Amino acid sequence: MALIKSLSMFSLVLALSFTFTFTHAARFDITNRCSYPVWPASLPSGGGRQLNSGETWSLDVAPGTVNARIWGRTNCNFDGSGRGHCGTGDCGGALQCQLSGAPPTTLAEFSLNQPNNLDFYDISVIDGFNIPMGFSATSNGCPSLRCPADKCPDAYLFPADNTKTKSCPSGTNYSIVFCP
Ligand SMILES: *[C@@H]1O[C@H](CO)[C@@H](O)[C@H](O)[C@H]1NC(C)=O
Repeated sequence: MALIKSLSMFSLVLALSFTFTFTHAARFDITNRCSYPVWPASLPSGGGRQLNSGETWSLDVAPGTVNARIWGRTNCNFDGSGRGHCGTGDCGGALQCQLSGAPPTTLAEFSLNQPNNLDFYDISVIDGFNIPMGFSATSNGCPSLRCPADKCPDAYLFPADNTKTKSCPSGTNYSIVFCP
């Protein structure tokens, strides 16, 4: 009995260490190719910053993160303490968002490390469109999404529009581009 118990404990520890050894954060490179500054925001990890034209923000998203979203805000003004307001996508006046952005917002949505070792991702304009967006995986063979204008065919236009979610094997990194 004791032997079986310690053996199963051993395999549990082994399984856990495999999980932690081989499951890495996913890198999201968020690039602003618009001619104007964009203030990207990320949930649920929290955070946000100013991204000037031509700049990239590299964000590590924890493995297993679900129902995540990244969007851009425009025409923002923040004071030194990170309080202020954005013309679009404002999240309760915070530079580092803890709340969703006010619509309209072009949304990049994703869930990482789902069953069958897949990540799922999409662009949604259900809440409206504020900035052109591209969303792609860095692994070969995974689909790229591009939403240059409102009602773009790659994006969710209404909730039951269920052919718009793409998948990619977990462990890949992603790139989000404003004004692709
Ligand atoms: C993802 O990005 C991280 C950090 O740059 C890197 O270490 C890792 O090799 C990348 N993974 C893939 C699959 O490209």
